[in-house]
Amino acid sequence: MSAIAQNTDSYFIDLEEAYGAHNYHPLPVVLSKGKGVFVWDVEGNRYYDFLSGYSAVNQGHCHPRIVAAFTEQAQQLTLTSRAFYNDKLGDFEQYITNLLGYDKVLPMNTGVEAVETGIKLCRKWAYEVKGIPENEAVIIVCEQNFHGRTTTVISFSSDASSTKNFGPFAGGFLKIPYNDLSALATALKQKNVAGFLVEPIQGEAGVIVPDDGYLATAKQLCEEAGVLFIADEIQTGLCRTGHLLACDAEQVKPDMVLLGKALSGGMMPISAVLANDAIMLTIKPGEHGSTYGGNPLAAVTAIASLQVLIDEDMAGNALRLGDYFREQIRGLSSPHIRQVRGKGLLNAIEIHASDPEAAWKICLKMKKNGLLAKPTHGDKIRFAPPLCITKAQLEEAVGIIGHSLNDLNA
Ligand SMILES: Cc1ncc(COP(=O)(O)O)c(C=O)c1O
Repeated sequence: MSAIAQNTDSYFIDLEEAYGAHNYHPLPVVLSKGKGVFVWDVEGNRYYDFLSGYSAVNQGHCHPRIVAAFTEQAQQLTLTSRAFYNDKLGDFEQYITNLLGYDKVLPMNTGVEAVETGIKLCRKWAYEVKGIPENEAVIIVCEQNFHGRTTTVISFSSDASSTKNFGPFAGGFLKIPYNDLSALATALKQKNVAGFLVEPIQGEAGVIVPDDGYLATAKQLCEEAGVLFIADEIQTGLCRTGHLLACDAEQVKPDMVLLGKALSGGMMPISAVLANDAIMLTIKPGEHGSTYGGNPLAAVTAIASLQVLIDEDMAGNALRLGDYFREQIRGLSSPHIRQVRGKGLLNAIEIHASDPEAAWKICLKMKKNGLLAKPTHGDKIRFAPPLCITKAQLEEAVGIIGHSLNDLNA
């Protein structure tokens, strides 16, 4: 194959098609470079990235301070396993527990591993502290949730494409409607309930924002029932919704917080579970872990990633520009848009469902015009740019979105 052919989108797309599993359906664009809010394809075209790696790149692509911390540590020591101590993990543990106000942290890698860890901690606590009979603990979850892809976690998914032919499934989960406090109150009366696992905003479901006060009342109901309130902040956390944690908007302090994605600014998989001693110390040496969890490279990268979010006031920027973005998108008055919703810079538009392909077609138009976003569940498009975006950049991006919606009529 010629050198020129090797630089085209179709070369790389065909390569993945031929040799990779077909478990994704990407937009036809092949990226080779990223900086801040922008990514470039192999042909040199520049795009606004309005997905941010599903909110893993909140700090912007290749943030220089995170890259510097990462590369410096990569030349020093990357992995020890937890068979030995390393000189960086303690710093990270102290830093993040002080920042978020918990006694302890348990570091893992991917988001779903944080969810698995949260489930295991909740069950341990249920048997060893709350006194639920072994193997009887129930965790309440919400319909339309997304917490990841392991077999236990898909066991309580309501999305057929996540579950079909992947059974048998794990028990011990009770599903209730999201944003429904009376359903929660009823479920909490059942026997052996140990925890309530909830996304403060349902991201993958299409940015479903619960009513004001939902999280605060849910937390209070859990407290009254002696049940752990477990917030999956893997997508909503780390400034995405205009606060360090989405729960902060209602002054809610979860019993357990699950973090991932932007904990590394997109450099590598880093996740974490935060809780106080009464919960965290139920897990003893040898009972849970991961070869890569808590490695020194991750520890240094996570501190830099968190510090960048704080130093650059990315929560404040997300809060201010999020309101502005929704106002501007509503102002487009596009006949294709049924609803605009979101918090901070986690937003979505819902498209009129007459054409089931409309959201995909709009994403292709936006790609052509220089902005990347991805449909979710057919008729919704999520808009989640890096949080370092400026007002001028956001205005330009809204122009591209408006223009692309108009192109759809043509
Ligand atoms: C709320 C939430 N929890 C968990 C996960 C799983 O994270 P990962 O893909 O890193 O395993 C995701 C991923 O999108 C998520 O949005």
